[in-house]
Amino acid sequence: MNNYKSIDDIADLDLAVNEALTFKQTQTSLTHLAKDMVLCMLFFNSSLRTRLSTQAAAFKLGMQVMVLNVDSDSWKLEFEDGTVMNMDKAEHIKEAVQVVSQYADIIGVRAFPELISRQSDEAEPVIKAFVKYATVPVFSLESATEHPLQALTDVMTIKEFVPKKKPKVVLSWAPHPRKLPHAVANSFVKAMKRVDCEFVITHPEGYHLNPELTKDVMINTDQKQAMQGADVVYTKNWSCYEPYGGIVMPKEDWMITSEKIGTAKFMHCLPVRRNVVVADEVLDSSNSLVIEQANNRTYAALWVINKLLNGKD
Ligand code: CP
Repeated sequence: MNNYKSIDDIADLDLAVNEALTFKQTQTSLTHLAKDMVLCMLFFNSSLRTRLSTQAAAFKLGMQVMVLNVDSDSWKLEFEDGTVMNMDKAEHIKEAVQVVSQYADIIGVRAFPELISRQSDEAEPVIKAFVKYATVPVFSLESATEHPLQALTDVMTIKEFVPKKKPKVVLSWAPHPRKLPHAVANSFVKAMKRVDCEFVITHPEGYHLNPELTKDVMINTDQKQAMQGADVVYTKNWSCYEPYGGIVMPKEDWMITSEKIGTAKFMHCLPVRRNVVVADEVLDSSNSLVIEQANNRTYAALWVINKLLNGKD
C-alpha cells in the first residue's frame, strides 16, 4: 500500500482489522515504529475526531506532528495546470505538495466536496494532486467521495462489539438541516461489501447513493421494514446524488428512535445532531457504539500510518 485514498487500497481487510485491534490491545510501547518521523496533516475543512485521533496515533508511533488549516492559515492554492495566476491564488498545488514533502515523512489531507458539480467532486482534485506531487506517502483524512479511515474504524467496531458471525447491518439515511457529502456512506458501503454480513441500505425516495457503488446491494425505502432483525444500524445523512447535492424533505420521519432500532447496536461517525438525526434515548443507551467508534479511530489511523511507513506490499 503506497497511499491510502480508499478502503479498497487495503488488500486484506480482515487482516488489517485484526492487526489494528491487536495494536489497540497491546500493552507495550509502539514508539519505536516511527520514532522521530514527521506527520503533516493539512485540513481544508473542520475536524475534531480525525485531527485528534490521527495525532494520537502518530504520538503512539513516536512521531512528531504538524497540522496546517489550509484555508485559514496558508496561501490560497491553485489546482489547474497552465493557469495565469494573476488573481487571488498565490501558490500552485505542485510546489505546495512538493514543499510539504520536504518537511514530512507522511502527509494526511482532508478536503470535502463542493457538492456543486458531481463530475468535479468525483474527479477528487485535491487528494489526487497530493498523491501526484508528493514524494512521501499520502493518506486521506476524508476526501470528496470517501472517508477510508472512518470505514476501517467501522469494520473494526463491528468486529469488536457485534460477535454474530454474519450480522444484519443496516445503513440508514437520517434527516439533517444542511446538505452533506456522500463520503462516509460511500466508504461504509465499500467496506460492508467486503465483510461477511447481510447488508441493507434504507433511504427515502430520491436519496439513492452512486448507483455504480450500490448496484449489488439490497436497498429498501421502507425504513421500519429494512431495520427488522438488524444487529447494527449505521446512520448517516447524505444529500441527493441526483440532483447532485440537493435536499428533498421526505414525507415520513426518518430520525432514529429506540422503537425503530429495537435491540440493534447504533453506529454513527459523529458529529451527530441530537433529536434530528437520532433521538437522545438511542444515543444515550448502552446500545450506542459511537464513543467506541471514535476510540477506534486512533487505532485505524495507527494501522494506516504504520503500514504506509513500514509495510512491505
Ligand atoms: N467522523 C469524523 O471524521 O469526525 P470529524 O469530522 O470530527 O473529524
